[in-house]
Amino acid sequence: MREPLWPLVLCLLAQARASNNFLKMFAAQQGNPPDPCYDETGLKPAVCIPDFVNAAFGQKVLASSTCGQPPSRYCIADSNDKGELVQKCDTCDDSEPRLRHPPEYLTDLNNPNNLTCWQSQPLTPNEDGQNVTLTLSLGKKYELTYVSLQFCGEKPESMAVYKSMDYGKTWQAFQFYSSTCDEMYGRPLKAGISKANEQEALCTDGHIKQDPLAGSRVAFSTLEARPSAFDFDNSPVLQDWVTATDIRVEFNRLTRLGKENDTSDYYYYSVSDFAVGGRCKCNGHASRCIPGDDGQLTCDCKHNTAGRDCEKCKPFHFDRPWSRANAREANECVACNCNLHARRCRFNMELYKLSGRVSGGVCLKCRHKTAGRHCHYCREGYYRDPTKSITHRKACKPCDCHPIGSSGKTCNQTNGQCPCKDGVTGITCNRCAKGYQQSRSPIAPCVRKSFIFSFPSKNHLYFGVDA
Ligand SMILES: *[C@@H]1O[C@H](CO)[C@@H](O)[C@H](O)[C@H]1NC(C)=O
Ligand SMILES: *[C@@H]1O[C@H](CO)[C@@H](O)[C@H](O)[C@H]1NC(C)=O
Ligand SMILES: *[C@@H]1O[C@H](CO)[C@@H](O)[C@H](O)[C@H]1NC(C)=O
Ligand SMILES: *[C@@H]1O[C@H](CO)[C@@H](O)[C@H](O)[C@H]1NC(C)=O
Repeated sequence: MREPLWPLVLCLLAQARASNNFLKMFAAQQGNPPDPCYDETGLKPAVCIPDFVNAAFGQKVLASSTCGQPPSRYCIADSNDKGELVQKCDTCDDSEPRLRHPPEYLTDLNNPNNLTCWQSQPLTPNEDGQNVTLTLSLGKKYELTYVSLQFCGEKPESMAVYKSMDYGKTWQAFQFYSSTCDEMYGRPLKAGISKANEQEALCTDGHIKQDPLAGSRVAFSTLEARPSAFDFDNSPVLQDWVTATDIRVEFNRLTRLGKENDTSDYYYYSVSDFAVGGRCKCNGHASRCIPGDDGQLTCDCKHNTAGRDCEKCKPFHFDRPWSRANAREANECVACNCNLHARRCRFNMELYKLSGRVSGGVCLKCRHKTAGRHCHYCREGYYRDPTKSITHRKACKPCDCHPIGSSGKTCNQTNGQCPCKDGVTGITCNRCAKGYQQSRSPIAPCVRKSFIFSFPSKNHLYFGVDA
């Protein structure tokens, strides 16, 4: 297995730091930059993603242990000019600004000329009781490229990285580091990853075999050595794997450099930088994340999508199923076609399949006397007014069938013809047909004219309500 890609991770770190300033410069020079979620014409939707950032920057970290209350002494093993091992000792004191080591120092600006370090309380030298956790909440789903820690003192011998996708309710293993993977975590050292187990945490001892480029940094590249990384767009498994709302690092065991002196002053964890490189997760439907109405970070969703991660279609845009955008297809959500007669609709998979995966929207509560999947025809008892378009509020007219002349109340929805009784005619069945004359019976209002009895005939039926 290849060793971690240190140069890549360091480059990404620099990129994350630089990208914000670069974008500000760009925006200032260009005025309003075009919306990256659409093509140059501004009409055709295209996949878009938020900037690559250090999502941990400025975020709160909860540490299970922090030194300084009460003040404690600590030492680091160092080498002097002659290359001899010497110890340098100091005090951690939370009430003295110069001597504080609070968790805020983990995610502040990581200035190489002024490293600020979080530090745990002194630990007992025995095997138990060396567990210390750092919990970082990102406040939003992110897709992570790396998780990186820069240590001030020595690196832990065993540590684990966990992630949560549900804001800390449940946790799953992300990566393990140990010289005794099997004993410490019950995982084989450097197990192989195939397409069958891409969503599995690995255990490595790579952090102990120091890479000069890495220095005091331990970095976990989330996609490294996972076969589908090169086809990320089409790998829901890896898309899920890199998704996290929270990261927890658990230090489980410390190695000891100053073994000669049996003092506990060396036993503590100390970290100067906790960085998490990645992008705000918007499923290809937003180019930035902004504070929402509730103050929580949320995607600025385009392509008719909605939700904090643009993970669903916005109301009335259910004509086809939601899908993540990729380089080939923007997969934007499409409005239902309800001819302006409905405000709500729902998706129907059967209809979608029957249409050849084109349209699956079903309009709900068609108004203006319309009916049908798309509110595209008139309700029973109404017919289409041919002089108005189907989207018109008055596209459907009442049948108005004559209560005595017609045999029902439902007219032909195309031309409004009511069903007439024998010998009755007219669109609303309000006249006797040629050769018929009016009778006094509401059951047979028009009867065949007799040659013998010829009455002067009134053409219009006068039974019931005269329309
Ligand atoms: C061990 O402690 C002694 C006495 O405190 C000190 O002189 C010596 O330098 C220490 N050794 C190391 C390796 O720190
Ligand atoms: C180093 O950083 C600390 C904490 O942010 C700050 O208080 C201190 O003034 C800085 N020191 C220098 C020399 O910049
Ligand atoms: C420390 O963490 C390890 C690994 O997660 C666990 O097996 C062990 O029980 C923990 N020890 C304590 C004292 O919590
Ligand atoms: C309604 O009228 C149209 C046009 O005259 C005709 O083609 C159609 O068959 C009629 N529909 C019914 C159900 O009678």
